[in-house]
Amino acid sequence: MSFVDSTLPEILARASWRPDSWQSRSAGQQPLYAERDALHAVLAEIHQLPGLVTWGESELLKRQLAEAARGERFVLQGGDCAESFDDCTAEQIANKLKIILQMSLVLIHGLHKRVVRVGRIAGQYAKPRSADAETRDGVTLPSYRGDLINRSEFTAAARAPDPALMLKAYERAALTLNHVRALVNGGFADLHHPEYWDLDFVRHSPLAAEYGRIVGAIMDSLTFMETISGPLSESGRVDFFTSHEGLHLPYEQAQTHFVEPAGRWYNTSTHFPWIGMRTADLDGAHVEYFRGIANPVGVKVGPEMTPSTLLKLIDILDPDAEPGKLALIHRFGADHIRDCLPPLLRALRSEGRRVLWICDPMHGNTERTDSGIKTRRFENILAELETAFELHEAHESVLGGVHFELTGEDVTECTGGARGLVEADLDRAYKSQVDPRLNYEQSLEMAMRIVGRAR
Ligand code: PEP
Ligand code: CO
Repeated sequence: MSFVDSTLPEILARASWRPDSWQSRSAGQQPLYAERDALHAVLAEIHQLPGLVTWGESELLKRQLAEAARGERFVLQGGDCAESFDDCTAEQIANKLKIILQMSLVLIHGLHKRVVRVGRIAGQYAKPRSADAETRDGVTLPSYRGDLINRSEFTAAARAPDPALMLKAYERAALTLNHVRALVNGGFADLHHPEYWDLDFVRHSPLAAEYGRIVGAIMDSLTFMETISGPLSESGRVDFFTSHEGLHLPYEQAQTHFVEPAGRWYNTSTHFPWIGMRTADLDGAHVEYFRGIANPVGVKVGPEMTPSTLLKLIDILDPDAEPGKLALIHRFGADHIRDCLPPLLRALRSEGRRVLWICDPMHGNTERTDSGIKTRRFENILAELETAFELHEAHESVLGGVHFELTGEDVTECTGGARGLVEADLDRAYKSQVDPRLNYEQSLEMAMRIVGRAR
């Protein structure tokens, strides 16, 4: 793809990408560290440490995402809005894996497609904030930006950006990923044993019978296939990939390595980093960093995006139209998707560009209750998703996946769903420091409703 509108300096600038070339651009959402020496020492240390993922895994994911873009697979991406260091426990990691595996089982069964499982996990530690500072009772301190940057407690010491937290984040991500890999390789994800994924409360859930029926049907098919052709080796193994918002560029740069056999640069902190909506400007530092890495990458697309900006963004991030390279994750809100999405779909179609489209039905549907609690309604999340399926179909496009903020715990952060959570329930188990997540039951129900819609 050529840059017909570009000036010569622009073309030269593009040619000279380096892991640190983003530093000459304006970078949104970056904290200010008081001690530069401490910052550089931590970054140098992280750079020396082994990557958390390999470039071969990122390439495998890219191939699977290319299939999803063609409608041959379906992507399930989900996890916390922000992971916290304290939640790095065996139980919470297993619960997150369980709900994603259970949802993927429902989707495989109902959509008759293989599912690409991508966690917002093992590195989702940095958050964009609407304001740099927060004031309480006349005291103003830097905003909490996630455990990668500072601490949430409202004191000057806790809110000061601390470079040592990056090292801790790298280690927590490694511990999380190690546990996920051990569970997956140890047979936890074996389709023959979906009972490993049972969570206590599934038995008391209004959805228990429906889920039990799906598991029963899958076990029957598996037994039938194995009776005919012997044990299916693939059913004992699943691929599980990681993703996070590549927000904090010094941290991402420190984990960027040139891979000789591939002849390309890879971010080895995650398989699939994405650019958040607030940092996706064409001339900004995030787009500059992301254009140089060979990982599959995502970009959040919100209501402000115009067709012409989107086409330029695609040219910059995926100049060679590489299959599976670029995912556009749209997040407009149930009330806006009908106005916002069709012009973008038409623009891509008229330019003959194929990307992977994923719907994030969470971030355009956030609201506050009268008492100021951040929440989301199950019915709005579902409505945006259903409209997304309808609009892609009407424009001969493919909705290749979904992106949820969810947890394997029994929290009360979003209202609605089969159990009928109402605003008064939110107090009972509201744990998120940032955005409200679907709880375990609401997540499973969402997978069932997607399947209902697809039928
Ligand atoms: C997020 O995914 O948590 C997020 C901040 O999303 P967005 O960039 O779409 O607002
Ligand atoms: Co969020």
